[in-house]
Amino acid sequence: MKILVTAGPTREPIDPVRFLTNRSSGKMGYELAAAFAHAGHSVLLISGPTALDVPDGVDYMPVETAEDMHRAVSHHIGRMEVAVFAAAVADYAPKELAPEKIKKTGETMTLELVRTPDILGSARGAMGFEGTLVGFAAETQNLVENAKDKLERKGCDLVIANDVSKPGIGFDSDHNEVLLVFADHTEPLPLGSKHDLAHTLVRRITELTC
Ligand code: PMT
Repeated sequence: MKILVTAGPTREPIDPVRFLTNRSSGKMGYELAAAFAHAGHSVLLISGPTALDVPDGVDYMPVETAEDMHRAVSHHIGRMEVAVFAAAVADYAPKELAPEKIKKTGETMTLELVRTPDILGSARGAMGFEGTLVGFAAETQNLVENAKDKLERKGCDLVIANDVSKPGIGFDSDHNEVLLVFADHTEPLPLGSKHDLAHTLVRRITELTC
């Protein structure tokens, strides 16, 4: 099957030397891309900036901002059978990019932010994607309710929910513990390495698609 995976953080520039970003290392998405490729699928990994090597056998498209990721996903998703959104996309970006390095002036400064495109949220509608759609939910409270809400609002077949307030899992860790949220049931997966979890997730996502 043809699989699209998004991974990593996005970087939203403030001026030529500063940006807004988050703690995503890309490990979860890269392990998923590697596990899909290992299972014999054709994988396109669209990733924000990370320090990771591109897994063997995976096509790779680097992007920087949420806007770039949105453009890349919109361009490629039409030929995919499965799309898995593991990236931690910035929800807001600076309204304006300062052309020069911003100088220190007053004691405080205000940065005006604007919403970025909701890439997962536009997969079904604007992008017309009809394949298997898998989102992640990174939550610090009400994990199940928030993940179910994302599943319904974004038209996902599966949401992989992680409680990112728990130490040792989630952002920038080698381990994760997730709850699979389907339309009619939920299923917890035990704490384990992102490597092992990715292989389990590939099996579960592939079953959904058959
Ligand atoms: O990268 P690691 O260090 O390995 O960490 C893994 C992870 C914690 C980043 C990963 O497991 C994870 O939870 N990824 C989703 C992070 C996130 O931003 O979750 P969210 O609940 O804010 O977003 C929900 C979904 O919408 C996600 O599938 C996200 O990719 C997608 N999204 C969000 C905002 C946006 N503008 N466009 C999107 O497509």
